Amino acid sequence: MEVQFQNNSLLVSHQNKTFQLHPIWLRERLPGEDFFDIDTNQRLYEPSSINLDLQISHAELLDALLKVEFNDGIKGTFNIDELLREMDSDKNKRGPLPERILWNSELQNFPEAQFEEEMVEKESMYHLLMNFYKYGFVIIKNVPTEDKYLLKFVSSIGPVKVTNFGEYFDVKSKPNPNDLAYKPIALPPHTDNPYRKPAAPGIQFLHCLKNEVSGGFSTLVDGFAVAEYLRNKHTEAFESLTTTNLRYQFQDKDIVLENWGELIELDKEGDYKQVRYSTRVDYVPPLEPEKLKNFYQARKLLSELYCSAEFELKFKLQPGDIMMFDNHRLLHGRTAYDANEGMRHLQGCYLEFDATDGKLRHLARKFQ
Ligand SMILES: [Fe+2]
Repeated sequence: MEVQFQNNSLLVSHQNKTFQLHPIWLRERLPGEDFFDIDTNQRLYEPSSINLDLQISHAELLDALLKVEFNDGIKGTFNIDELLREMDSDKNKRGPLPERILWNSELQNFPEAQFEEEMVEKESMYHLLMNFYKYGFVIIKNVPTEDKYLLKFVSSIGPVKVTNFGEYFDVKSKPNPNDLAYKPIALPPHTDNPYRKPAAPGIQFLHCLKNEVSGGFSTLVDGFAVAEYLRNKHTEAFESLTTTNLRYQFQDKDIVLENWGELIELDKEGDYKQVRYSTRVDYVPPLEPEKLKNFYQARKLLSELYCSAEFELKFKLQPGDIMMFDNHRLLHGRTAYDANEGMRHLQGCYLEFDATDGKLRHLARKFQ
């Protein structure tokens, strides 16, 4: 890192890039109690009121402190590391959130965490969330198997997302269900609720209370790993799946929910944003036959990959396990079971990413 001040211009070289720092960019970060509220760290003034002709009249770096004087007489000191963090575009965007580790069925060591009482402020929660962001899931072991204990645990991280299914749902066989999840049949890999607005629930938790049956294995697939495989090996299919917009619909006697989106959604940088796969509730629009032909071919390939032994993890949840997983990245399912063999009872609920993201950023301040 190098800092130069010449001709009223402040140049910072960092990671093979040189940034010319705009005077207003610097000024609206100027620390101090005249500018930022001590308690909230929020700006005390309207930054658009800064004179557009503002200039830097002097700057020098002393150790990690950048001393700057502006041409209106205001001066101050910046922590250069804080400024550099904003110049690293990746760090600036992701903060303490770790890089993803894509996986397939060869994943050896499952990301696990041991349940502890009051763990939300502990380092163990920091590691739990880091694993969750790396792998898209984590199995939390030895959670008390009390009815609705899940809600107590999840609400310690953030507000449980309430839907028309309620605050939580029981996954066990029941008569006249409004969803296939409540029959003892196999559930192929899927993502939940792509029909919700503004988006499908971000995170799902399933707490295993009883699992007395010989079947009923849980399955998980890393949808982003499958997408990456398609991007590398089947460009045409990838193109079709990332550009065809589908409608998803749920209906029961009280409500009709609808939303739209691609089976593989990319963000503006081409990174994976969300996968959707719930083929019992999706509807592709009447596109030209050639486009539909490509789409159906691509969807068939996608379905084969999602169900393949190469990508699918299959394991048995034990009573006391909570499986926490990213519903925008992973697909989940289960094998069939015989309800006459005994009870299989999971409780589930949803949480949104601002809760986990915010908690991880908070814990990183303590433990990173
Ligand atoms: Fe599901």
